[in-house]
This record gives sequence, structure tokens and C-alpha cells, in this order.
Amino acid sequence: MAISWQTLHKLEKEYGDSFFIVDIGQFQTNYKEFLQAFRAFYPHTNLGYSYKTNYIPKLCQTVHSMGGYAEVVSQMEYDLAIRIGVPPTRIIFNGPLKQQEDLENAILAGSTVNLDCLEEVEMVEALANRLPEHKIAVGLRCNFDIGTSRISRFGFDVAAGELDKAFQRLTALNNCAVEGLHCHISTAERSTESYARRTQKIIELTDYYFKERQPRFIDIGGGFYGKMTEDLKSQFNGYIPNYQEYAAAVAPQLKAKYPDNSGPELIIEPGVAVVSDVLKFAAKVVGLKTVRSRQIALVVGSIHNVKPTGTDKNLSMRVYRNDENNGQRKLAAPVDIVGYTCMEHDCLYKDYPGEIGIGDYAVFENMGAYTVVFKPPFIRPNPPIISYDPLLNEDTLIRRRETSQDVFSTYIL
Ligand SMILES: Cc1ncc(COP(=O)(O)O)c(C=O)c1O
Repeated sequence: MAISWQTLHKLEKEYGDSFFIVDIGQFQTNYKEFLQAFRAFYPHTNLGYSYKTNYIPKLCQTVHSMGGYAEVVSQMEYDLAIRIGVPPTRIIFNGPLKQQEDLENAILAGSTVNLDCLEEVEMVEALANRLPEHKIAVGLRCNFDIGTSRISRFGFDVAAGELDKAFQRLTALNNCAVEGLHCHISTAERSTESYARRTQKIIELTDYYFKERQPRFIDIGGGFYGKMTEDLKSQFNGYIPNYQEYAAAVAPQLKAKYPDNSGPELIIEPGVAVVSDVLKFAAKVVGLKTVRSRQIALVVGSIHNVKPTGTDKNLSMRVYRNDENNGQRKLAAPVDIVGYTCMEHDCLYKDYPGEIGIGDYAVFENMGAYTVVFKPPFIRPNPPIISYDPLLNEDTLIRRRETSQDVFSTYIL
């Protein structure tokens, strides 16, 4: 996305001095490339977009219009999917907390509901017993060891026989079928080896549990790296696989098992992989100071906008200089770019190695994952989100700037 200081200034005049810019075209490209990488090996692959990573409705609508599933982990996200026109049959309902009523409604409406724990099996038993004429279908989330240091809290522990128990109880019901297996295992390395291992494991489990009939789906979850700037990549210790490498670790195993293209649907559930490079965050430089040896530039943003989940990496950032004002006050490198909160740790970028002045814009890249959904209302309302088409030089408001009234509207004053 080509932008200039002039573009940012024009957007500032219309929308205020900090904003996200979303590139829907980039999202469509990522979606197509990621899915195509898997389909090249295993054509019966579909993508469920992880809403929680970034649930800007426009992105979710794009997923639906491109044929993808809505992968939701809460009733709030389920409601959003319905509201934007996703049919229940195109919703995958995951997550550790599904309330009886929500789980029942989703199952009865034909959504894919992947159960996470025995309490949810009990909810399905209650539903099946209450509606004996109704055919019920569910999926089960599996928890197995792929050699990671952390013990995941999600899904049924395969080694301890919990998955087995769930299977037995559900198949003992005359009107209930388990139609697929799901796993999502997040690891720090996000390595292709870990995807090869989880795929092998979930295929072994389907072999064991689906002897008489084929499962409808095998869902290997998300957790893949997305596209990054070289600068950001260089701050990671390990290798960052690309889409094709992930696909090559997973999909040929299904192809080998089901060579004639009549195998189960392979579902992938990326969030980060397709959305991380789809947003930028722009914040105007409004203050400069030097305190002893430290040079500081204040921007209209905070660490909560750019690193809401916490990371010590310096995200890729570019400063767009205010060329129109040569007389502006400025600081020479290195400069810490700090935010509006009253917290000492609110540093959006440490040791920026260039010149920076009042009226410049700091633009952060790779802002698509978790930024919009994770930011707390501390202590400034959320900035607007704008879609900008650099070719047509057209902008559209996607989310308006939040007001103090929005923030306090749920309190009883
Ligand atoms: C069940 C499930 N699927 C998919 C995802 C997406 O993960 P990511 O954004 O890392 O691809 C998550 C995220 O935690 C998840 O819990």
C-alpha cells in the first residue's frame, strides 16, 4: 500500500490524528494464496477464518464472500457472523466456553460445533435425550502431545482416554454422530515440523475412530505465521515458514491417505497468517522532549494500540516526514517513540534511528492480528479504522472513532 505524508495528512483532517488503515485487497490476496497452497496438494480444503484475531465485520464479510467458514470462539462472534449474513452451516463454533443454550442453538442450526470438554458432552446428551427425533452432529477437539513444552488446556486428552470417553458417550446416543476431529495447538515456534506432527496424529486418530465411515472433516486449527516485513522477521530466532511450506507439511499427508479426492474436508483455521499484514496504525507526532540522555517523541497512540498482547520486539515502523514544514521542531536519532498513557512502559518503538519532528506520522506495519480486538479502553477511546485504496486514492470509514460516551455507556452513572 503506497502512502505518503500528504495522504496521511488528508486522512488526519477527515478522521483525526491516529487511525488504523485496513487493506481489504491484501486480505483477499492472503486468503487466496493460503488456501491455494493447500488446495494444490489436497483440493478438498477449506478455510475457516479465526474471527477473534480481527473481527472487523468487513473482513469477516470478505471471508464469507470468498467461500470461507466463520471460525468463532464465543457467542458474541457467532452473533456477528449471523448478523453479517453467514448461514449457520458456514460457522464453526470452537472455544472452551459454550453455554447450553448457545451450544444447542448452534447444533440445531447446523453449525459445526467442536466440543472441548466433558461438560459439553453432557450438554449434548441433554439435547439428544430431549429431542430424540433430531439427528445431532458434533466434532471433538483433541489434545495430544506434539513435543511442545506447554501442556495445552484445550480439548480432550487423548493419552488419558478422555477423547475415548467422549466418543463412547456420544456414540451411545442413538441420534448423535461425531463427524470430525479438530485440534489447534499454538506453539512459540510455529514450525512446519509441528504441523506435520499434528496432521499425522490427527490422521491416526481418525483411522482409529472412523473405521466404518469416513469423517466429514479433519480440522487442524490455525497458529501459522503470516507475512512479515524483513525487519520484523530478523527479530525472530527461528525460521519463518511461508504459506507453501506450511501446506507442504500438512496437505500431502491427506492426499496420500485419500488419493482419489473423495476424502474428508481439510479445514484450516488461520487468523494471524491471513490478517497480520492487513492493517497499519498511523499516529501523529505531537510532542518532543529530551530528558538527560533520552530523546522522546510523543505520538497520539499507545503501546496498547500496537502491541496489545505484549512483545519486546520493535515492530516495523516508518516515519513519514512533514516535508511541508522545514522549520518544524525535531530530534535526531536515537528517539524513543512513546504513547499517551501515564505508564513508563508505554513505548511504541525504542531507539528509532532517524530524525523525527512535530507533524510527522509514525506508521506501524503488521498491525492486523489482535490489535483491534485486544486493546483495552485505557485511557483513550479507540481510534477509527479506515479502508484506503491507494490506486483510486479513495478512503472509506470502517469504524468510527470511539467517544468517551461509548466507553462509559455501560456504566450506571
Ligand atoms: C481454535 C482456534 N483456531 C484458530 C486460531 C487462530 O490462531 P492464529 O491466529 O494463530 O492462526 C485460534 C487462536 O488461538 C484458535 O484458538
